[in-house]
Amino acid sequence: MVSAVQEHNEVHSVSGNRALTGAVIPITRLMSFYVRLLSLTLLGGSLLWGQSSDRFTQAVLPFLAQNCYACHGSDDAVGKLNIARLDSPQSLQEHRAQWAAMAEKMASGEMPPAGFPQPPAEQRTAVVEWVTAELARLDDLVAPNPGRVTASRLNRAEYDNTVRDLLGVRFRPADDFPQDDSGYGFDNIGDALSLSPVLMEKYLSAAEAVSRTAIFGVKELQPALTRFDPAFMNFDESQDAPFTYDETGLSLPSALHVSHRFLADGDYDFTGLIRGFRPPGSEPIPMAFWIDGEMVEAVDVEIPSTGELSGQIAMIRHHVTAGDHWLAVSFLKLYHGLPHEYSGPEPSKLPPPPPADPDELFRPPPGATPEEITEL
Ligand code: HEC
Repeated sequence: MVSAVQEHNEVHSVSGNRALTGAVIPITRLMSFYVRLLSLTLLGGSLLWGQSSDRFTQAVLPFLAQNCYACHGSDDAVGKLNIARLDSPQSLQEHRAQWAAMAEKMASGEMPPAGFPQPPAEQRTAVVEWVTAELARLDDLVAPNPGRVTASRLNRAEYDNTVRDLLGVRFRPADDFPQDDSGYGFDNIGDALSLSPVLMEKYLSAAEAVSRTAIFGVKELQPALTRFDPAFMNFDESQDAPFTYDETGLSLPSALHVSHRFLADGDYDFTGLIRGFRPPGSEPIPMAFWIDGEMVEAVDVEIPSTGELSGQIAMIRHHVTAGDHWLAVSFLKLYHGLPHEYSGPEPSKLPPPPPADPDELFRPPPGATPEEITEL
């Protein structure tokens, strides 16, 4: 900068304007502006843009000195902008914002202000283009900043899978966590997966359960009883048995179908409670247990001489894996093995039962009121 100013003063004196030379120091800043403008005119020829790589010192700096320093030449200059300080190519890096503002003001023609002598248009354009290109080049050198990536937590599925893969624990601890939020339709976006205090608490208790399970194995479950009753009950009281019918019993009203979620792999007891009546002299009837559509076992139920089956049970024990399973209980061949008179298929080969013992018949105690009899 200093050299530029000196050069400019020299040129100025070459102009031979002695009266102005003597006045440079004491006169107002505005006057000195005019003096420098004069010298610029003289310099015009040497301001042609060459191929020189050092355009900054050869062209930009003298241009600013000529056109801007008059008003922006010190720290207390107008707009608090001291352009004289921006005297090295490095200043483009260090004071990027000021250079960008300068290029903008020059490009828009705002600076130098209207009413003051203006530089030739091609000089102004050339300086603006150089500064703009140089700022762009410096920007390109800076390592790109793709922005901040949110530290992402695992969503529930990821949590379960990670715990399973790392520790072999399969009880899906995240089932207990609050629902994950989703963003743009995805539930694995870090920005959408927040960490609430509730979730933090769940994490802590899950960590405890997971580590306990990983070390000591699955916690032993207490045996629990689940009871299912048929939603619909229908006793066939007809005296004639159909000859063709669903022999599995699965589609008959006597079957029970349920879906049950088993919490763990294990051996389970299945008990069928029987209600109803089967003609005395019938063959034993097989009660069948089905899991997921496959018959796993059938248990013969004996027919007592009274024919009353209510209160009897049939029981099996079977291994079942954890998860949802379809269970069914039915009587196999319901209408087979009945006494002859029912004319069903494959009638019973058992001898007819002895006539009922009159002592076994129900007799109310003598003198009982109707209410007491109902209660018996
Ligand atoms: C005749 C005096 C004068 C000349 C010559 C002059 N300026 Fe200015 N400049 C001003 C004044 C006055 C302001 C304050 C304007 C305002 O605040 O509205 C200003 C403001 C600016 C600003 C905005 C500063 C800020 O941060 O607010 C920039 C940039 C600027 N000038 C660049 C230049 C450049 C580049 C040159 C040379 C090409 C130049 N000026 C020449 C008088 C001048």
